[in-house]
Amino acid sequence: MLSMNSKLKEVYAHPVGKDVLSKLLLQMNKPEMLITNPLVANVRLKNLAKLTQKNLPQEFFDVLLKLLNSETDVPQESNAPIKEQWWKEAVFYQIYPRSFKDSNSDGVGDLGGIIEKLDYLKDLGIDAIWLSPIYDSPNDDNGYDIRDYYKIMEEFGTMEEFDTLLAEIHKREMRLIMDLVVNHTSDEHEWFKEALADPQSKYRNYYFFEDKPNNWTSFFSGSAWNYYEEMDKHALHLFSKKQMDLNWDNEEVRKDVANMVSWWLEKGVDGFRLDVINYISKQEGLPEGNETIYELMGYRGIENYFYGPNLHKYLHELKVNAFEPFNAFSVGETPGVGMEMSKLLTADYRRELDMVFSFDQLETPGHVRFDDYQYDLNYLKSYLMKWMNEYPNSCWMSLFYDNHDNPRMLSKVNDNKDTRDYLAKLLAVIQLTLKGTPFIFQGQEIGMKNQKFTSIDELRDVESINLYEELLEKMSPKEAFAKVMAGSRDHARVPMQWSAEEFAGFSDVTPWLVGDEDYKRTNVEAQLQTSFSVLSFYKKLIALRKKFKALVYGEVIFVEEKRKDYFAYYRKRGSDIFFIECNLSDKPMKKPIETDEFTRLLSNYIQPKKVLRAYEANVYLVK
Ligand code: NOJ
Repeated sequence: MLSMNSKLKEVYAHPVGKDVLSKLLLQMNKPEMLITNPLVANVRLKNLAKLTQKNLPQEFFDVLLKLLNSETDVPQESNAPIKEQWWKEAVFYQIYPRSFKDSNSDGVGDLGGIIEKLDYLKDLGIDAIWLSPIYDSPNDDNGYDIRDYYKIMEEFGTMEEFDTLLAEIHKREMRLIMDLVVNHTSDEHEWFKEALADPQSKYRNYYFFEDKPNNWTSFFSGSAWNYYEEMDKHALHLFSKKQMDLNWDNEEVRKDVANMVSWWLEKGVDGFRLDVINYISKQEGLPEGNETIYELMGYRGIENYFYGPNLHKYLHELKVNAFEPFNAFSVGETPGVGMEMSKLLTADYRRELDMVFSFDQLETPGHVRFDDYQYDLNYLKSYLMKWMNEYPNSCWMSLFYDNHDNPRMLSKVNDNKDTRDYLAKLLAVIQLTLKGTPFIFQGQEIGMKNQKFTSIDELRDVESINLYEELLEKMSPKEAFAKVMAGSRDHARVPMQWSAEEFAGFSDVTPWLVGDEDYKRTNVEAQLQTSFSVLSFYKKLIALRKKFKALVYGEVIFVEEKRKDYFAYYRKRGSDIFFIECNLSDKPMKKPIETDEFTRLLSNYIQPKKVLRAYEANVYLVK
C-alpha cells in the first residue's frame, strides 16, 4: 500500500502511478527526468505536499493514493515469444458509415454504399473492417447514442442488408468488427424510457439516478447531469445530454450487454471495438471530482471513472462470457490510459481485451486537441520507440493516426500542398512497417486533409457545436470558431472523396456534411490511375507487409536514435531483414547511414539520391 510516507519513486514504480505521472508530465511538457532524478525521486509524498501546498492540496494526494491503491496487480515481466494471431497480421480499415458512400441518394452513407466498395477495400489489401455504429439511433452523436442494439439505423439500411454485407465481406476473406457502445445508451433507449416512466421499474438501476448531482463535467461541455422533473432526479451522462451512462455495477446490465454481444457474434461478426470502455466502472458513491485534477486535465470527475475499481473484473467477465466462446477479437478505446495500464488491460494471460487504442501519440507534449499548433514528428518517433521497446510480447499495440474523433494527422504536421503527398506516404511507411496492428481511417489512403470550413453553421458535430457555444462566453465568435476548427471532429467526417464529380462521388445530392473542394485534386478515381499516387503507395506497402512476416513480428532495432528529424530502424526475422529510413522534416538532410548495399523496395521519391529529401521514406531489403 502506498501512503503519504511513500517516496515519489515508489509512486512511479506503481503501474497506475507511472501512467498518471507520465500523463501529467506530458500535459505540462516536462521531461521524465523531473521525477526520476534522485533528488526528487526520494522525496516523500508528505514532504512534497508541504512543498507544493498551494498548487497541490492534500485532497489531491488522497485521490491519487486511492486510485493507486485500488490497483494491486503489476504487469508480468516474462518475455515469452509472441503468439501469432490473425488480428496481429491484419491491416484494419475504419469506416465511418455516414460518410463513406451513399447508395440511395439521401446524402447519407449507408450499408449499400459499403457493399459497393468492398472490392475497392479488398484491392487495397484490407483484411478487416471496423464499422463505426450502424445501430438504430436518434443520431445526437452520429450513432454513438444507441436506441436499439438489435436494429439497424433506418438511414443506413436493414438487417437483411447487414447480413448481405457480412456475407460479402466474408466471401472476400475479410473480417468485420462492429462498434460496441455500452458505456451509455441513448435516452431514447427502451431501458431509459421505462426507467423514467415507472418508479418501480428495474431499469432505474440500469442508470445513475441521483437526488443531488455531483460536480462532474461532460466531455461535450457543461454538467454531466440532466434533471428529470417527473421524478425529481438527476441522471448521469459523461457525453451528450442524450447519452446516458449505464450502471455496470448492476449485474443485469452486464448480462444484457454480454447477451447482446453474443447475439452479434452468433451472426458471424468477428469482434468489436469497445467505445470508451475504460469508463464503465465508476467509483462507488460517485465522489466529487477533484479541482486540481480538473485544472490539470480539463475534465472534472475523471479520476472516478477512467480506471474504475471494477474495470478489470467487468472486462474479464465479458471476455469469458461473450468473446471467448466465439474466439472473437476485441480492441478497446481507452482514452487517458497509458502504457502500464494498457499492459494490465491487454496482456494475453489476463483475458480482458486483445488490444487498446491509446491516444498519447495524437498531440505533442503540452498540447491538447483544440490547440492550433504544428505537430513535430520527432515526438511521434520518441513515442513509438518507447512502445516498441517497452511493450511486452504478451501485449500487442494498435498503430493509428486518424479516426472519426480527430483532425487529420497529415494536416497537423504540415498543410503545405507541395509536400502533402510525400508526407502522406511517409506516415504510411511508419504505420505499416512497425510492430503493431495498423488501423487506416477512410480517406487516409488517398491523403485526405483537414477542411476549410468557413462558419460554425457548416459543422454538424455535437462536440464542436457545444464547445463553440461555451467558448462564446469568454471570446469573440471569430476566436471561438478558430479554436473549434483546430480540433473539430468534422474534419475527418466529411464524405469520402471518391471522384472529382460533384459531391466527391459520395452521393448525387448534397451530403449531410459538406466538405471543401479538395476532392477535385485528391480522390480515389484519379489515384487509381497513377502508380505513384498515395493510394498506389498504400497498396504496395500493404502488400509488402503481407508478404513478409518480418514486418509484422520481426524484431525492431532502432539506429541513430538521438538524431533529430531522422527515424530509422531494422525489422528482422530469421534471414529476412528490412531497413527503413525516414526524414521527418521538410528540409533535406545528409544520410546518416549508408544504404548503397541495400535493395530499395519502396520509396516516396522516384529516383534514389545521396541525400534524404523532404519527408523522404525508404524501405530496403538488407542482403
Ligand atoms: C468515443 C467515440 O469514438 C466518439 O465518437 C463518441 O462521441 C464517444 N466515444 C461517445 O460515445
